[in-house]
Amino acid sequence: MTHMHITSWVVAIVLFFVTYGLLKSGNQKGSKIAQMILRVFYILIIASGVGLIVSTNLTVSYMVKALLGVIVIGLMEMVLGRSKRGEMKPFFWILLFVALLVTIYFGLSLPQGIYLG
Ligand code: HEM
Repeated sequence: MTHMHITSWVVAIVLFFVTYGLLKSGNQKGSKIAQMILRVFYILIIASGVGLIVSTNLTVSYMVKALLGVIVIGLMEMVLGRSKRGEMKPFFWILLFVALLVTIYFGLSLPQGIYLG
């Protein structure tokens, strides 16, 4: 389950940049398709995250981890949506990267999965 979770969000991050790149290069159709695939990966991230929660006890740390994960997904959608509408501000990139780093750090500090010493 941990591998599925990590694979899902790594693929989602790549797809996020592919979607953003296609959008910026003016390929509307391509970015729409990439974003649709990206949304399938959001579901996989959430499903594998819920799977990880179910395999242990639901503590406050796990609720915070889930919330952080959902915030990252929300911010990815916000950056793409705002870029599409031409309302993007650098602040949202900063928010996204901070939220992503905090989520990865917090995920790794929780007891299951890969231990990076
Ligand atoms: C883009 C969003 C997300 C990122 C980047 C992310 C990142 C991570 C990372 C780095 C880990 C640690 C894996 C390991 O220990 O080897 C992890 C574990 C976990 N994540 Fe996520 N995650 C995201 C979304 C979510 C969501 C939406 C949920 C809940 C619905 C969730 C729930 C969990 C749980 C329960 C764990 C197990 C923690 C443990 O090790 O005990 N994550 N995540």
